[in-house]
Amino acid sequence: MSEADAVVQLVDVRVDVGGRRLVGPLTLTLREGEHWALLGPNGAGKTTLLSLLGASRHPSSGAATVLGLPLGRTDLRALRARIGVVGQSVADRLPGHASATEVVLTGRDGILAPWWASFDDVERASARSLLDRFRCAHVADQPFVSCSQGERQRVLLARSLYARHSLLVLDEPAAGVDLPGREALVAALDDLAASAKAPTTVQVAHTLEELPGSTTHALLLRDGRAVASGRVDEVLADEPLSACFGIDVRVVRRAGRFAAQAAAAW
Ligand SMILES: Nc1ncnc2c1ncn2[C@@H]1O[C@H](COP(=O)(O)OP(=O)(O)OP(=O)(O)O)[C@@H](O)[C@H]1O
Ligand SMILES: [Mg+2]
Repeated sequence: MSEADAVVQLVDVRVDVGGRRLVGPLTLTLREGEHWALLGPNGAGKTTLLSLLGASRHPSSGAATVLGLPLGRTDLRALRARIGVVGQSVADRLPGHASATEVVLTGRDGILAPWWASFDDVERASARSLLDRFRCAHVADQPFVSCSQGERQRVLLARSLYARHSLLVLDEPAAGVDLPGREALVAALDDLAASAKAPTTVQVAHTLEELPGSTTHALLLRDGRAVASGRVDEVLADEPLSACFGIDVRVVRRAGRFAAQAAAAW
């Protein structure tokens, strides 16, 4: 069933918790070289969907294949080690007293505790250079728990880029990050998209301004179901966004980047 270049394939997938449908039915294929934006109102099911893509859970029904492996018949822990993840779920599970550098290093194997692995000087230097890239060199030796919200988010970004995974899922990576931090994130994702063997990416965002110009596709989710899905130019447009959020929205694209505001303020 799975196509040769499919990185993720969901067929009629549903996630039900406590008798409530959180996601689905949803059919979606993410292919090599694609960079997806995932948008929708609070509670739409974005984080729940990312938990499937990041191999953190199985679907309740339907078929989900991630990096060629069918969820439900796969060791999720081994699969998770092959996927870069940025999100609160990762931040919550990291030991707070680990330093920012150690947190970045755990991105190598997708583990959550640095003492489960050993790292050499080259690896430590590479982790520090990533922290530097996200302007976090000053917290390299600081416990992750005592970093500010924006600093923690930047450290998690550096962690997700430390190993060059073929699938990267980012849940609101710009949340709590200042303007230079957001632009560093956008530039890093653009660089990544332009690099050899660029990973397939899925980025949950609440504002269009935080999406890189290299975004190729978008999925709009509402009540767990796709309102629109496909090429970014067609999906991040007035009509689909207005339908998804239930307010009249106008979208503009400038220098490759997107912005949106309520039509009433236009
Ligand atoms: N374990 C759970 N048990 C019951 N309901 C849940 C559970 N996890 C999530 N939900 C509900 O599922 C819905 C989707 O949650 P999810 O976190 O995926 O939304 P989201 O689109 O990421 O929202 P946000 O933009 O606020 O982050 C929400 O209404 C949430 O309350
Ligand atoms: Mg969420």
